[in-house]
Amino acid sequence: MTRIFSGVQPTGNLHLGNYLGAIRNWVRLQRDHESIFCVVDMHAVTVWQDPVELSKSTREVTAAFIAAGIDPETCVIFNQSAVPGHAQLAWVFNCVARMGWLNRMTQFKEKAGKHKENASVGLFAYPALMAADILLYKATHVPVGEDQKQHLELTRDVAQKFNNDYGREVFPITEPLILGEATRVMSLRDGTKKMSKSDTSDFSRINLTDDADLIAQKIRKAKTDPEPLPNDVAGLEDRPEAANLVGIYAALADKNREEVLAEAGGWAFSQFKQALTELAVETLGPMNAEMARLLEHPDEIDAILRRGAERAQAIAGPVLDEVYDTVGFLRV
Ligand code: TYM
Repeated sequence: MTRIFSGVQPTGNLHLGNYLGAIRNWVRLQRDHESIFCVVDMHAVTVWQDPVELSKSTREVTAAFIAAGIDPETCVIFNQSAVPGHAQLAWVFNCVARMGWLNRMTQFKEKAGKHKENASVGLFAYPALMAADILLYKATHVPVGEDQKQHLELTRDVAQKFNNDYGREVFPITEPLILGEATRVMSLRDGTKKMSKSDTSDFSRINLTDDADLIAQKIRKAKTDPEPLPNDVAGLEDRPEAANLVGIYAALADKNREEVLAEAGGWAFSQFKQALTELAVETLGPMNAEMARLLEHPDEIDAILRRGAERAQAIAGPVLDEVYDTVGFLRV
């Protein structure tokens, strides 16, 4: 049996990287796999979040899931804090994971920056909570973008150590699913930096809420080099901006990069950007409209989250019981 689990933090606007690296793959996987998708609000508060914005963003991410094509009937969609087992299992995993493992996490180093002493304990323990998210449902596969690879390796280490320490095969060893041509979408302003919600320049990313004009403007202003597009993938080497735009185009068109370059090799960027804009607007436009429609009915979104949390709890409850029994926590 396979079971998919994945999550997104409700920390501001979702962008094209979140969509192409993760959410779009979930839409395909949901057809053949039992799927659980989580808005990870507890991860969000590892750095300061305005409470009003956090609730708003939780509804927005939920709306984005549904607008992108996740079916709330067949999939479980919920917010992390609504199922207490995430925090409960995370505590057990805090005691399984080693300081040395967490010290190696590049995301912590990036996010804590020079002020490590001032980072929250939660930010340091973040990957243990992530392991708990996944293993609370004994998920077998986790579809994510490339930046989450290290966290998923830690999840496997936690599962393995727990199973070894207690001499019982409680948890599966989860497989990451890093799929498609845009597993690491880069900034439109700098092809060596990841497209990210926290970049200070809004022109570095395409947000799922951007309208057609703004998408066109951002693509027009995207950094490029002076050469025309190469005829094959080898020609993208050392051209990070070109490689990024071709990857985005390929993912949106559902082609591979070879196919895109077979067609667009030799084009000037002005022509390619025009085609990319049309494709992006075609894909994101309807999603944008559906998100806006859903957000006019917050009660419906809340009802989906409530029902999702109940269904998630029904799966998580017995797993947490098994963990508590394994650890020797007395349940009377
Ligand atoms: P988050 O919220 O940063 O991102 C959500 C998903 O989007 C992917 N992603 C990208 N993919 C390609 N290019 C990019 N530029 C890009 N930026 C983001 C991420 O890889 C991710 O799949 N720790 C996770 C959330 C999480 C989680 C989990 C994921 C918490 N618990 C359990 C899977 C399973 C995060 O911060 O994602």
